[in-house]
Amino acid sequence: MSTVLEVRGLEGGYGSVQILNGVDLYVDEGEFVTIIGPNGCGKSTFLKVLFGLAAHHDGMVLHNGADVSGWRTDKLVSRGIAYVPQVDNVFPSLSVRENLQMGGIRLTAKKLMSCIERACRMFPDLEPRMNDLAASLSGGERQMLAISRALISDPTFLLLDEPTAALSPRYQQQILANIDKLRIEGISVLLVEQNARLSLARSDRGYIFSGGKVVHTSSAKSIVNNPNIGEYFLGLHQ
Ligand SMILES: Nc1ncnc2c1ncn2[C@@H]1O[C@H](COP(=O)(O)OP(=O)(O)OP(=O)(O)O)[C@@H](O)[C@H]1O
Ligand SMILES: [Mg+2]
Repeated sequence: MSTVLEVRGLEGGYGSVQILNGVDLYVDEGEFVTIIGPNGCGKSTFLKVLFGLAAHHDGMVLHNGADVSGWRTDKLVSRGIAYVPQVDNVFPSLSVRENLQMGGIRLTAKKLMSCIERACRMFPDLEPRMNDLAASLSGGERQMLAISRALISDPTFLLLDEPTAALSPRYQQQILANIDKLRIEGISVLLVEQNARLSLARSDRGYIFSGGKVVHTSSAKSIVNNPNIGEYFLGLHQ
């Protein structure tokens, strides 16, 4: 199995302000890996540094073996990496269709059409909403659109920041199940998630962040079953 992402000693943040204090993490091909940790510990910042949206200060980021440390977002997208942000992840004043088209700006019309069809198969709730403004979508539908938009660029590696936050249990399950299915299509997934139990149930491995670094990593199963970790970080055993 090859390694899609390997991060060694990553330091980064906003301007000269350092938030990440030496993160080590990897994702193998076809894996679903979840990052959890308390509010403000740097989970979102980590994804942003990986995707060229926050400052890379030091450390190594390898994508499929190539050093992409500090690369610009557009170059990372052309390598097959996509990212769904935690907030502001759709254009509210555009229709659902236009949001999807924005994600496929580099595609031919034919390819764009087939990618939109794939999004509709994945999230059938979106199909009847194609001509509606994204602003009119429910929280769950918005997340579905945000994920679909990221998939339009036909990525092989997807970074997702809290895709189920503030959603109803039905949407949480549906979205995580669909993310899980992406692996069948050969897409590796790195996810930040507050709904730790739900996400870890589908993950291969997990990382716990605290204070801008990894404080624990193991199989997802052993995180869920570890009472100390569960009580301290996740409220899993309440
Ligand atoms: N644009 C920014 N400029 C400066 N500091 C920021 C910026 N965004 C976040 N921070 C700071 O970086 C630290 C880490 O924030 P980050 O959003 O990465 O945490 P998080 O683990 O994703 O938290 P949450 O679980 O609440 O989403 C926090 O102290 C936050 O205030
Ligand atoms: Mg966050």
